[in-house]
Amino acid sequence: MRRLIYCLALFSWASTYAQKFEGLALTPPMGWNSWNKFACDVDENLIRKTADAMVASGMKAAGYQYIVIDDCWHGQRDQLGFIQPDPLHFPSGMKALADYIHAQGLKFGIYSCAGWKTCAGRPAGRGHEYQDAMKYAEWGVDYLKYDWCNTEALNAEGAYLTMREALHAAGRPIVFSMCEWGSNKPWEWGGKIGHLWRTTGDITNCFDCVVDHGTWKSWGVTYILDMQEGLRVYAGPDHWNDPDMLEVGNGMAVNEDRAHFSMWCMLAAPLIAGNDLSDMSKETIQILTNKEVIAVNQDSVGVQGFKYSSQDSLEIWCKPLQQAGWAVCFLNRASHPRDLAFVWQDHPISDAHAHREVNFQQATFQIRDLWLKKDLGRTNKTFVGKVAAHDVRMLKLTPLP
Ligand code: GLA
Repeated sequence: MRRLIYCLALFSWASTYAQKFEGLALTPPMGWNSWNKFACDVDENLIRKTADAMVASGMKAAGYQYIVIDDCWHGQRDQLGFIQPDPLHFPSGMKALADYIHAQGLKFGIYSCAGWKTCAGRPAGRGHEYQDAMKYAEWGVDYLKYDWCNTEALNAEGAYLTMREALHAAGRPIVFSMCEWGSNKPWEWGGKIGHLWRTTGDITNCFDCVVDHGTWKSWGVTYILDMQEGLRVYAGPDHWNDPDMLEVGNGMAVNEDRAHFSMWCMLAAPLIAGNDLSDMSKETIQILTNKEVIAVNQDSVGVQGFKYSSQDSLEIWCKPLQQAGWAVCFLNRASHPRDLAFVWQDHPISDAHAHREVNFQQATFQIRDLWLKKDLGRTNKTFVGKVAAHDVRMLKLTPLP
């Protein structure tokens, strides 16, 4: 009898304290989100067209899987408080849209917010968390981006915990993407709650500038990059830092898009494209689908890269990879090209966080340029080359026996 009571007590404790769905993001999530390009101009035709394009462009084959509708899909809540899609723009309903996306072998993502209203003023989750989670599960949602607007007096960790509990209770495994912008240091508490958390305010499609919107600012690529300082120790499989979605294909120069994409791969950042997939240039497709660069992002070790050195706007970033490999990325932030003459033997790499070290006097690596898709020789010779303005040279080092 006593054992039975003990078991019941344990069961009720376990069901009170649910957990996040484990193992849904062992590598950084890859997909597409409507916001950066389309903002509130979303409807079911755009989403279907985007799913088609994700397959036709080769992005699905390169590893992208989530199609996420950001803000503004919401209509009104019904009399019982259940959320409904906007009937004008989503007349077939969310279940039908999810079915369409799933039939393409892709996954379906949706957006809401912890506050009273979403950032664009639509009905949000506060007080409706369990109802919303039930609806998402019923519709076949696989990914939830949960924002942080209009959250007066809410505690961030508590609010995201409530939504985690609601998702768990609804029973459908859903990737939980916390969009708290870094204000409450989500990296310190987010790992047990969600699979990724935003580390900054919103990105903008500019390599090196800030856009001031009055009450808030959006940040260019290099600004967001600098805000990642110190955060790598918090990231790993199933819990990633999210420096915001990609702006590749949204108006920056090709070299800037390449640098942006490379750095997001070095950061083990989620790769969520934010451009119009049905209207991409050849260069945009080449950047978004470079499988060797993506492999650095998706590497199973799951360690976020770090800035090894920085001098006169030339940064060198390193990321440990599986099988004792490394990615090394030369980032030129200057607006003029740079010559490189890198003597590997003079640059031992040490990563205390990942417990990895390399001394090039003792070990030799094969070098591959991941954008030129060319083998460049070995680390026993000086790496001589050029890096264009606002561009990268991204190398993969593979140890030789
Ligand atoms: C916030 C988020 C963005 C986007 C918008 C939608 O600004 O940070 O990524 O979701 O809201 O309104």
